[in-house]
Amino acid sequence: MNPVNHVAIIMDGNGRWGLKKKNSRKAGHKAGLTTVEKIIKETVKNNIKYLTLYAFSTENWKRPKTEINYLFKLLENFLINKIDELNKQNIKFKVIGVKNFTNKLNNLLRLSEKKTSKNNKLQITLALNYGSKYELIKAFKNLKKNKNKFTEKNLKKYLQTKNIPDPDLLIRTGNTRRLSNFLLWQLAYSEIYFEKKLWPDFNKKDYNKIIQDYKKIKRNFGSV
Ligand code: FPP
Repeated sequence: MNPVNHVAIIMDGNGRWGLKKKNSRKAGHKAGLTTVEKIIKETVKNNIKYLTLYAFSTENWKRPKTEINYLFKLLENFLINKIDELNKQNIKFKVIGVKNFTNKLNNLLRLSEKKTSKNNKLQITLALNYGSKYELIKAFKNLKKNKNKFTEKNLKKYLQTKNIPDPDLLIRTGNTRRLSNFLLWQLAYSEIYFEKKLWPDFNKKDYNKIIQDYKKIKRNFGSV
């Protein structure tokens, strides 16, 4: 049985769900947040150590301003209301991506990271204003600047995920099969699950089924 140490998720389909059910993309994001909370609970139950969630890509700035503001407000309220609970559950909160939001959100993100930095039951990494190509270019620039050899080990030191093991499995909901500039280096050997359901409809049964399927796979990392 493969142990599951790190699950990464592209939470796709909020907009479509919201439009279909409530004629509003924002409603989809709100429902998506409820799914986030359920999946965090289930990740803890499964004793998984790392959960990485793609919440906002560098490309998502192309969306209407009102939708972007709504998403960040949701995140703000989530942190204000839930960070103490996460802290009590020994969960560490970490952000990857560039923190160039409002001062209020930037501070809240930093405070949440600081408050939970010593926790070790589960690390939740939120990819926010994150783009993998940008992360890689920056890492290569650092290798060059510091005259380091171009090796995998050296490159990893400059990735934002430097202290996080690579994901064992990637789940993308929303019936779309692409990586969308997410963890391109780190996913090199991950198992990938494309889920037809939209993120707000994804539930603990679906999640546990994927985890159980993953545990049965023979991973040989290029060997036989
Ligand atoms: C992709 O769906 C989802 C996002 C860009 C945002 C993810 C946000 C959440 C799950 C809720 C908030 C989470 C936190 C942690 C505050 P989409 O809007 O691209 O869906 P579509 O493909 O149907 O348009």
